Amino acid sequence: MRLQTGASAVAFAAAASATSLSEVCTVSNVKAALPSNGTILGVNVLPSLATANTATSDSYSYCNVTVTYTHPGKGDTVVVKYALPEPSDYKKRFYVAGGGGYTLSSTSTGGLEYGAVGGATSAGYGALDGTTYDEVVLYGNGSINWDATHMFGYQALGEMTKLGKYFTKGFYGQSASSKLYTYYEGCSDGGREGMSQIQRYGDEYDGAITGAPAFRYGQQQVNHLLPNAVEHTLDYYPPPAPSPRSSTRPSRHATLSTAVPTASSPVVTSVC
Ligand SMILES: *[C@@H]1O[C@H](CO)[C@@H](O)[C@H](O)[C@H]1NC(C)=O
Ligand SMILES: *[C@@H]1O[C@H](CO)[C@@H](O)[C@H](O)[C@H]1NC(C)=O
Ligand SMILES: *[C@@H]1O[C@H](CO)[C@@H](O)[C@H](O)[C@H]1NC(C)=O
Repeated sequence: MRLQTGASAVAFAAAASATSLSEVCTVSNVKAALPSNGTILGVNVLPSLATANTATSDSYSYCNVTVTYTHPGKGDTVVVKYALPEPSDYKKRFYVAGGGGYTLSSTSTGGLEYGAVGGATSAGYGALDGTTYDEVVLYGNGSINWDATHMFGYQALGEMTKLGKYFTKGFYGQSASSKLYTYYEGCSDGGREGMSQIQRYGDEYDGAITGAPAFRYGQQQVNHLLPNAVEHTLDYYPPPAPSPRSSTRPSRHATLSTAVPTASSPVVTSVC
C-alpha cells in the first residue's frame, strides 16, 4: 500500500488493523494528514489551530475535527469542521450536505450513518455559528461583500470538500490515489448549492441529490408572488390550512386525484 505523504504511522495502523477511534482522533494525526501549502490552490492551512476530540451523535461515535485555513493575501480565516467515523465504520465515503434559505449546512455529522466523513464550513463569515448570507452580503456602506458572495455561492463548499477529501485519506491512511466516493445531498438553497458544486467542482463528486434547487431567481421569485397577484385579482382569499394536527389535514402521501385543491381542502405540497 502506497501511503500519502505525511500520513502518520498511526493512521496506517488504523487502516491495517481497525485501530480504535481514540487512537486516530488526535491533533498530531490530524496535523500529519493536512495538505502542505501549495497542494490545494489558494488554500493555506494553519496547522497550529487544528483541533480533534471524540464525540457522539445519535449512536455514532466520531472524531470531531476543526481545521482553519486562509486565502493567501486576503488575511481571512475560514474554519471547517469534519466528523470522521470510527475506523471500523468508515466506508471510504465523503458526504456533503446543503443548507436552506440563505444558509450553508452547519452540521458535519450527516454522513455518519453511511460510514462517510462529513464536513461543514464557516465560509469565512461565521456560517457555523448560524450567520446567514443575507446578513453579510452588504457592507455598512452599501457595497457588496463579494468575498462572502463567492464563498456562499460555491467556493466554501468546494474548498471544504477538496480539503476534506485530502485530509480524510491521510487520517485513515488511505492511499492518495485510491477512490473516496463523494456524494452531495441538499434541497432548496441546498439544491442550488448542489447544482453549483457539480458545475464548479464536478470532478470531486460521484453523485448528487439536488432537491428543488432554488435558483433562476428572476423567474422563481416572481412565481412566489403569482398566487398573491391571482388572489388580489380575483378578490378571493382561501381560508387558512387546517392545523398540522388536525385529522382533516390531507395526507402527505395523498395521490394526485385526492390532493386536487378545493376551497376547503388546500393541496399539501411536498416539503424539503
Ligand atoms: C501555510 O501558510 C500559512 C500562512 O499563509 C502559515 O501560517 C502556515 O504555517 C503554513 N503552513 C505550513 C504547513 O507551512
Ligand atoms: C468540535 O470541536 C470544536 C472545536 O474544538 C468545538 O467547539 C465543538 O464543541 C466540538 N463539537 C463536539 C460535538 O464535540
Ligand atoms: C465599503 O466598506 C468595505 C468594507 O469595510 C470597504 O472594503 C470598501 O472599500 C467600502 N467602499 C466604499 C465605496 O467606501
